[in-house]
Amino acid sequence: MVGFASVRGFIDLHSHWVAGVDDGARTAEDGRAMLRALKAAGFDHVVATPHMRPGMFDNTAPALRSAFARTVDAIGAGADPELPGVSLSSEHFFDDVVFSRLMSDEALPYQGGKAVLVELGYRAFPARLQHRLHDLVRRGLRPVLAHPERYEPVWEDIEALDPLLDVGAVMLLDVAALVGKYGRSARKAAEALLEAGYYQAACSDAHKAKDVDEVAKGIEALQKRFGEEEASFLLTEGPRQILEGKITG
Ligand SMILES: [Fe+2]
Repeated sequence: MVGFASVRGFIDLHSHWVAGVDDGARTAEDGRAMLRALKAAGFDHVVATPHMRPGMFDNTAPALRSAFARTVDAIGAGADPELPGVSLSSEHFFDDVVFSRLMSDEALPYQGGKAVLVELGYRAFPARLQHRLHDLVRRGLRPVLAHPERYEPVWEDIEALDPLLDVGAVMLLDVAALVGKYGRSARKAAEALLEAGYYQAACSDAHKAKDVDEVAKGIEALQKRFGEEEASFLLTEGPRQILEGKITG
């Protein structure tokens, strides 16, 4: 198991570099290129979070564990100083099937088992969302909401997230939103959420090596607009607290 306490640089809680399982890296070489670019952008640990989304990306936890091992073997992650440290989790689409996997230990929480990455559909929040997130918290799994700035209910009113925060969910910014990668509404929502202090951490959500250009620009924008200290918290201490289950806010 990786000791996150020893990681000095940024920790990326969301990326798609495992080869051939979703809309991220197609080959191990693509995965390697992404990891090199993320390391150059300052990330010393990059968690792979391939999609688990029935009907679109039919990945099970065992299948993702095998695919991760194959990619790691092929690119020599862990042994190559040009690459960051790595671990495996998943981006869990929060439908009935994936929710029941999360409740029966058939999902892929972050290493250490204290938190889990979830994503929602963009148009509307699902029924019973707050209750289901609370169910995860009661199992000792803190929900980490992927890219809250992309959800339309948040564009209407950022306080749409308050009931989710109330039950213990935390918010993960995709930094590329700050340079307009997902459009004006997502950018404005990201800025408003940063102003209001909603985020616990920031990530790349990189799907290919080229995406890391916008990630690096997003980090720069975060530093310039919201200060070095806030940027550093969101990219180092914030994600570390999530992984270690020690969130202090
Ligand atoms: Fe993602």
